[in-house]
Amino acid sequence: MSDPGDILERLRRLRAEDAPTHGGRVMSYVYDSGRPELDDLADAAARLARPLNGLDPTVFPSISAMERDVVAFAKRMLHGGGSVVGSITSGGTESCLLAVKTARDLWRRSHPEAPAGSRPRLVTTTAVHAAFQKAAALFDLDWDPVPVGASGHARASDLIARLGDDAALVVVSAPAYPTGVLDPVAEVAAAASARGISCHVDACFGGFVLPWWPGLPDWDFRVRGVTSISADLHKFGYAPKGVSVLLHRGLRRHRAQFFATTRWSGYPVVNPTLLGSKSASPLAAGWAIMQHLGSSGYADLVGSITRAAAAVRAAVDGIPGLTMLGDPVGPAIAVVADLSAPEGERVDPHRLADALVGYGWKIQHQPGLMQADGVRIPHSAHLTLTPVLEQGVHEFTAALVAASDSVRGKPQADAGMLLAGMRMLGYGDGGRVPGPAAAWRLLRLAGTGKVSPDQPMAVLMALIEQLPHEVSEALLAELLARMSEP
Ligand SMILES: Cc1ncc(COP(=O)(O)O)c(C=O)c1O
Repeated sequence: MSDPGDILERLRRLRAEDAPTHGGRVMSYVYDSGRPELDDLADAAARLARPLNGLDPTVFPSISAMERDVVAFAKRMLHGGGSVVGSITSGGTESCLLAVKTARDLWRRSHPEAPAGSRPRLVTTTAVHAAFQKAAALFDLDWDPVPVGASGHARASDLIARLGDDAALVVVSAPAYPTGVLDPVAEVAAAASARGISCHVDACFGGFVLPWWPGLPDWDFRVRGVTSISADLHKFGYAPKGVSVLLHRGLRRHRAQFFATTRWSGYPVVNPTLLGSKSASPLAAGWAIMQHLGSSGYADLVGSITRAAAAVRAAVDGIPGLTMLGDPVGPAIAVVADLSAPEGERVDPHRLADALVGYGWKIQHQPGLMQADGVRIPHSAHLTLTPVLEQGVHEFTAALVAASDSVRGKPQADAGMLLAGMRMLGYGDGGRVPGPAAAWRLLRLAGTGKVSPDQPMAVLMALIEQLPHEVSEALLAELLARMSEP
């Protein structure tokens, strides 16, 4: 047996290799309120709830008590009336999956004439979170991605044009993660409602920010055709990972989310969500933070985000060759090369993201995306702006300026040689999809056999953008799988 002290020391050493989770220096994945007392409270609450099993609140009623409080808070926050009910899930992806499964089941019920096995459509923008592609794949829907404009804006008319009898659900984002753009919720929801189609607002990212963001059009349950909304406590609810809330308009809709069975020889099973046994710790942590902050606490933190966002936007505006994509609201922006500047003065966002690592800041590479209508969403870098950034925003904007200066004029990374090599090996358009061994060989050929938090990503991103999706997806799956293999 190893000594517990040694074990924890080993974990501390492993953790030292991780990107920093606090201080706002990693502008994706982690959401630091800048208030350490919230983390302490979350830890204490999580510890209290640690031994529970969320599988059965009849045995552990503290779980349903916390759920009631969180759902009630989220309902008020999102202006849900008496008919709005909901569940706690393990995160954004699970909330999105369940929104799709629920809409699919309701569609099947209201379309008894549809041949067995027929697949309804899931209508989204191309900028909607990838969790919806996963949902379509898992629950047998045809994902119907509607192209957005080059600046990330969804056009309501394009989404509405795709709403037919075979559409089970249309999804809009509040806001979309890649750009921070708020989709035209009211127009799309009204059209969906007129056709009896479910409309989900994915507010996983913005759900705990936009309610306090000034000057927005209605995007929540005040919009009549909105049938469900997801909002993550483990993002801007500042809870540790593992907790989100999914609200539905109407009891019947909510209950369609459930799975219950008495058809086996064990205990009767009722699962409102995807998991069976589950931790109650993330719920307890999120619940405790919510009790502590209340609406005014969230409003204060949103104030910090708005001030940080204004400073970052002003800095981007002042950097020659760099610009912001679209017209974001809330806590995210995406930066792109300013194509109106002469080539020699442009700042490539992926070169910028790589250079910023040297200054101690991490923004997120997003490859360009060619859409079905031939419009390319440019490659960009995403910045999630958290409240803690307000404290260090001048240091960040100075780093942004300096890193931009250091890469100005360098074009997007060139993956041409690698791409040519992969095509020669038969992995080009219409070609083969590599299996595990071939994918691993290709990754090593590309020099990306090992990934660390400070590795330059510009070439890998250029490769991802240009390879057929099936090939880049196989390579990325292989990369991640190898990271955890003993
Ligand atoms: C808009 C949106 N929806 C869904 C998700 C998925 O959430 P999670 O990573 O918690 O599964 C995210 C994550 O960033 C998101 O931004």
